[in-house]
Amino acid sequence: MNILGIETSCDETAAAVVRDGRETLSNVVFSQIPLHKPWGGVVPEIAGRSHVEKIGGVVEEAVSSSGVGWGGIDAVAVTCGPGLAASLLVGLNAAKGIALALGRPLYGVNHIEAHLHTPFLSPGAPDPLSCSPMLGIAVSGGHTAWMDMERYGSYSIIGQTLDDACGEAFDKAAKLLGLGYPGGPEIDRISRSARRAVRFDFPRAAPRPGTTALGGLDASLCVSFSGLKTSLLHLVRNSPPSTPEEIADIAASYQDAVVDAIALRTERALERRRYAALAVGGGVSLNSALRERLAAVASAAGTPLLLAEPRYCGDNAAMIAGLAFYRRAVEAEFSAGMDVMPSLRPGDDPFAERAGGRK
Ligand code: KG4
Ligand code: ZN
Repeated sequence: MNILGIETSCDETAAAVVRDGRETLSNVVFSQIPLHKPWGGVVPEIAGRSHVEKIGGVVEEAVSSSGVGWGGIDAVAVTCGPGLAASLLVGLNAAKGIALALGRPLYGVNHIEAHLHTPFLSPGAPDPLSCSPMLGIAVSGGHTAWMDMERYGSYSIIGQTLDDACGEAFDKAAKLLGLGYPGGPEIDRISRSARRAVRFDFPRAAPRPGTTALGGLDASLCVSFSGLKTSLLHLVRNSPPSTPEEIADIAASYQDAVVDAIALRTERALERRRYAALAVGGGVSLNSALRERLAAVASAAGTPLLLAEPRYCGDNAAMIAGLAFYRRAVEAEFSAGMDVMPSLRPGDDPFAERAGGRK
């Protein structure tokens, strides 16, 4: 079954054709990073307008380079949320039009869950249905969440950030340090040149005890990055770094604190339950220090670690088409009433939402 996936939740216009959930036939991503760079962050209005300009060409290219042509598309999948409303609407409307014109089913996909499908797009990866129960970590510019998956497609959040996402923590730190946008790759890069002997002490992102933001979640599996960012702000204000070496040392210590926070929560989750696999997805999973730390944590727990190939770590549509294949049994009807869900949380099911209830 060939599914055409469409993704426009933030600042990438993407389309892909994936066969049977695992085999990527085409994967086209138009990144808007140069458009947002001058502003130091994603500007929603610019993002929405660029999606409108690019979506047609990106979809055409994905279908033609897939080799199957329009006639070979069996279904259409699209990101319903979470994301920027004006951006999501562009992808959803394109997907509706295509599904209607082709007379094919349309599936709405949760973007965060789709990130966790990315490790399974690699040829050597195991079958996701054989990896139960699985611990999933979504680490991106918009989300940081630990998900317990009893079986593939059935998620419950066991930990998350109470404020900024880890990617946001990197992007904001890079801005404070005068580095480029997006900040994560910059911090990763310059941290490699840091002097090991020079360390700055940043807080380890533990939530305030008893905070109501936990909403019933266990504090030891949650993170709060806002204090970390504030402590960097104070450091930069009180003693501004004046050389590239000093900036690199601060960046490396900050990166350590973020990576440490994620690794520690993961270690705790793996201690609590024996998982068949640990799957990690999202742009921050490109971080070299995080990849190393998670490999060590997973190996100590004896849990196989499933990381995505770099081309699938950032936003892409192969993950949307891939996940839809596994979720398609839930509902296969084209729905003209399908709508965007900008505030969808990990574990929220767009299929159930449309059917009038929540899992
Ligand atoms: O998954 P993604 O492309 O978009 C969202 O769904 O948010 O993630 C983008 C985030 C940005 O915050 C970016 O700075 C971060 O991923 N990122 C990194 C690295 N590469 C991208 N963070 C740390 N280290 C990296 N190498
Ligand atoms: Zn994403």
